[in-house]
Amino acid sequence: MERKTPLISPEDLRRQAEISEYIKGWWQSQGVTPVAYVETYGCQQNEADSEQIRGLLERCGYGFTDSAEGADLVIVNTCAIREHAAQRVFGNVGALVHTKRRHPGQKIFVCGCMMGKPEISERMKKSYPHVDGIFSPHHLWELPEQLYRVLIRHRKAYAVEDSAGAIAEGLPLVRTNKLKAWVSIMYGCNNFCSYCIVPYVRGRERSRLPEDILAECRGLIAEGYKELTLLGQNVNSYGKDLGSGVDFADLIAQVAELPGEFTVRFMTSHPRDASHKLFDTMASHEKIAKQFHLPFQSGNDRILKEMNRHYDRARYLELIDYGRRLMPDIVFTSDVIVGFPGETEEEFEDTISLIEQVRFEALFTFIYSPRPGTPAAAMPDPTPKEEKNRRFDRLLAVQNAISEEKHRALIGKTLRVLVDGKDGELLTARTDGGRLVRLEGDDALIGQFINVTITDATTWSLVGSVAP
Ligand code: SAH
Ligand code: SF4
Ligand code: F3S
Repeated sequence: MERKTPLISPEDLRRQAEISEYIKGWWQSQGVTPVAYVETYGCQQNEADSEQIRGLLERCGYGFTDSAEGADLVIVNTCAIREHAAQRVFGNVGALVHTKRRHPGQKIFVCGCMMGKPEISERMKKSYPHVDGIFSPHHLWELPEQLYRVLIRHRKAYAVEDSAGAIAEGLPLVRTNKLKAWVSIMYGCNNFCSYCIVPYVRGRERSRLPEDILAECRGLIAEGYKELTLLGQNVNSYGKDLGSGVDFADLIAQVAELPGEFTVRFMTSHPRDASHKLFDTMASHEKIAKQFHLPFQSGNDRILKEMNRHYDRARYLELIDYGRRLMPDIVFTSDVIVGFPGETEEEFEDTISLIEQVRFEALFTFIYSPRPGTPAAAMPDPTPKEEKNRRFDRLLAVQNAISEEKHRALIGKTLRVLVDGKDGELLTARTDGGRLVRLEGDDALIGQFINVTITDATTWSLVGSVAP
C-alpha cells in the first residue's frame, strides 16, 4: 500500500524558517524582544499543537508570558468539542478588545479546532474585527508566513481552507514540561461518531512514520524526559494509512524497548480497534504504563449503534476482562456521554450498570452537546435538560463512590511513582496507573522514580510517604 498522506515539502518548511528569521531580524532592528501569550483550550492534541506554536514563535524571536495583558502577540488555540467550550472562547476573544486597546501594537490570532469549521471561522472574522489572524489546525505550520502578513504587511491573515490534512515533520517545539512529553503519533480521525465534531475539524487519519516518532522519543529520553505520552484521537488505528506493517502495538513496543529509565503512556483508544495484541504488548513491557483510557460512551447497545461506535457492550466488557486477566492491577479510565438524543431512562441505567460492573478508576463525564453539522444534532431529543442533569448527577455519585473505594483500597500498599512537581508544600507524583499522589519530601526527588507507601486517599488522589 502506498502512503496516502502528503508530507509538507522540505522547501515549504525552509521557506517558513526563512520568514521566521526575517521576523526575528525585524524585531531586533527595533530593539524589542517581543513576548507572546498562547492560550490553549481542549485536549492534549491541542496542548501538543500549542507547543509547536511556541516553537515556531520562538524561531521568530518571541519570548513568552502567561497573560494577554501587555503581550505583543496573543494566540488563542480553541476547542470545538462542546458548545460550552466554544462559548467561552467567543467570550474570551471578545474581551481581548480591551487588552489590545491598552497595548495598541498587540496582534491577535485565533486558531485550533473551532477554526476548522467554516461557519465558526466566518463568524470570528465578521464579528471580531480586532482579531488579526485566523488559521485552522491544517495550517499551523504556516504561522510564520501569516505573522509576516499581519506584522509587516499590516494585512489580515486567514488560512482556513479545508483539506484532508498533511504532516509537517521537524517543526520546532517549546515544551511546557521538562519531565513529561506529548508525542503526537498521528493526526485526525476517521470514525465519525455521530455526536463528534473532531473528524470535521481535524481531517482524516494520518500517521507519522515510525522512524520519525522513534527519533523524537530517543531525543526526549536523552534530554532527561521520564514520561512519554503517545497521542492520537484513535491510536489503535495507527499505521493503517502507512501500509508499513507497523501497527500501534508494534510501535509502542519499539518505543518501550529504547534504552533509558522512562515510562510510556498513550491516549486515546477506540474500543473498536483495541486489540488483544496491544494488551499482550503492555503486559510484556515494563516501561509501558499499566493504564488504559478506553472511552465507552454508553452502556446500551442501541445508543452505541446510534453513536456509530461499531462495538457493543459485550465486546467492551470482553476487552476489560482480557486486560485484567493479563494485568490484574491495570487502571482503566473512560469517557461517557449522558443524554445522547433519545436516550431513555432504561438505556441510561445500562450505562450505570456498566460503570458498576467495570469499576473504573476515574471517568470523564459529559452531558451531550449538539454540534451543528453532525448526524446526532439532527436527531430528535425530547429529554428535558433537567432530566439530563439529574442523570448526570446520579452517574457522578456512583462513580465518585467507586473512585474513593478503589483509592482507599490502596492504603498500606507501596507503589512505584514518578515525582513530577510540587503543589504548595507537598510533592506531587503519579503512579504507574496514572493516579495522583501527594507526599512530603525533598525537592531533589522531582524527576525520580521512587517507591511510596500510601497512607490516605480521597476521591481524586492519594497521600503517601517515601517508602524506606
Ligand atoms: N478521540 C477520543 C475522544 C475525543 S473527544 C475518543 O474517541 O475516545 C473526548 C470526549 O468528549 C469523547 O470521548 C466524548 O465522551 C466527549 N464528546 C465528544 N463529542 C461530544 C459531544 N458532542 N457532547 C458531549 N460530549 C462529547
Ligand atoms: Fe470523535 Fe469518535 Fe473520533 Fe473520538 S473516535 S475523535 S469521539 S469521532
Ligand atoms: Fe477539542 Fe479539538 Fe481536542 S475539538 S477536544 S481540541 S481535537
